[in-house]
Amino acid sequence: MTLLQVMAADNAADVRVRTTDPAEIGKVLAELGIAYSHWDVVDNAEGTDSDALLAHYAPQIAELNASGRYEHIDVARIHPDADNPEWPAIAAGARAKFLDEHRHAEDEVRFFAAGQGCFYLHVGDEVLATVCEAGDLLSVPAGTLHWFDMGTTPNFIAIRFFEEADGWIGDFTGDKISAGFPTLDELLAA
Ligand SMILES: [Fe+2]
Repeated sequence: MTLLQVMAADNAADVRVRTTDPAEIGKVLAELGIAYSHWDVVDNAEGTDSDALLAHYAPQIAELNASGRYEHIDVARIHPDADNPEWPAIAAGARAKFLDEHRHAEDEVRFFAAGQGCFYLHVGDEVLATVCEAGDLLSVPAGTLHWFDMGTTPNFIAIRFFEEADGWIGDFTGDKISAGFPTLDELLAA
């Protein structure tokens, strides 16, 4: 479910907007300079290897990258693996990586080919929890404070766009603000 929930930054219980309407989500985010759009959803993304996935979306990628600014485009995948005894630790480790507030020197651009994840954008005195699902493309502007929750059962395939090979590295603020906000699991259960 694509979802936008806007909350006061100093009080997560103060919910100012909660909507699943893609047009409204796009409008709210656009007003803050955050690009959000939708590409078609490929059938069986899970069964499609990364090269084939990039080939499928080549026209959209070419349009997005018309300026050539993204020199590194790859595919990140994580799926539950019930047969792997290490899975719970892998999942928890992956989730913890970007769960604290941080920013990047370049835009964080992600297209979800499958699954879901939530970007929390801390803009001014609000936090915009943006749950992306298959078909959603979100661009978090460089320097924007944010965090990302892939949930307790991480499951997504995302095409990532980087200007620099190390563009994914976060500059963490040390602020524990994220602990006071509903998790992805909680947002979806609400
Ligand atoms: Fe990030």
